[in-house]
Amino acid sequence: MQKKQIALALPGCQPRRQPTTLEKMPEKVRKAVFPAAGLGTRFLPATKAQPKEMLPLVDKPIIQYGVEEAIQSGIQNIIIVTGRGKSAIEDHFDHSFELEALLESRGKKDLLAIVRSVSDMINVSYTRQKEALGLGHAVLRASTLVGQEPFAVVLADDVIDAETPCLQQLLDVYQFFNAPVLAVMEVPRENISAYGVVDAEPISHNGAKDRVYRIRDLVEKPKPADAPSNLAIIGRYVLTPDIFTSLGAIEPGQGSEIQLTDGLKHLLRSRPIYACRFEGRRYDAGDKLGFLKATVEFALRRHDLGGPFREYLKGLQL
Ligand code: UTP
Repeated sequence: MQKKQIALALPGCQPRRQPTTLEKMPEKVRKAVFPAAGLGTRFLPATKAQPKEMLPLVDKPIIQYGVEEAIQSGIQNIIIVTGRGKSAIEDHFDHSFELEALLESRGKKDLLAIVRSVSDMINVSYTRQKEALGLGHAVLRASTLVGQEPFAVVLADDVIDAETPCLQQLLDVYQFFNAPVLAVMEVPRENISAYGVVDAEPISHNGAKDRVYRIRDLVEKPKPADAPSNLAIIGRYVLTPDIFTSLGAIEPGQGSEIQLTDGLKHLLRSRPIYACRFEGRRYDAGDKLGFLKATVEFALRRHDLGGPFREYLKGLQL
């Protein structure tokens, strides 16, 4: 995935709006929260003893794709909310002295560079969600580490392949409006009940009418007949710290969990929230079929694997 350097990624957007003297300049987003404490029931038994975020997509754990997206978007402080299998994630982003010494002694410079680049990539801190009480609850667990500043949230099992990283697209909208921004995409009506859904009006004043929306309402996992639109929330958010107050104020919702969507609905009473229909392809790697699609497509794109893998697939006589 290559990062495209742009002032505002949205086609036709004006340069950043100048704040009036009464408005604050948007603060830089320096931290990204990765909730990784879900039970991963759709992937049992693989997720019995390890988080689904550690399942490998070709040869990298799912979470590493999200971390690389955050880095490409200029964020280097990562906060991972862990549940079970904490040590697997910690070990992955830590130095592995034994492995590095072995690779060095055998002259495996390429592998050594790959292994080191993972641990050198980021500043990472961890916080624990003792019980899987919902995504909103997991985000709230990160409040002390985030502090009073804007932050991103990345759900690593949504793997997004995009020319401009999805998070960067959201950050550009955040910079413009100085307000929370959610990633959304259109999904078929019959699948809408698997998502948080927004009721939103396209914003026309900045020339990006087809991609940026002002949110009127949000609803978690509605029945198709009750869904306010076909715009589903996907696992990338840029949030402001007042979300923590909202998450602390709400009751458990869908599935008796503290839902991030409900927290955002609460926050919407006091400030505008925007949605960005990002450009790129999203894979639901937390779902078996989505994971298989991502594995095949990512493998086909690899220089070292693509050719022989394509030949193998052609020979399957499907
Ligand atoms: P999912 O909705 O995919 O739930 O969570 P899940 O439990 O991980 O997986 P399934 O549906 O049972 O298969 C979305 C994101 O929120 C995190 C998950 O780790 C995932 O990144 N999450 C969810 C938490 O961190 N804590 C929770 O209590 C719930």
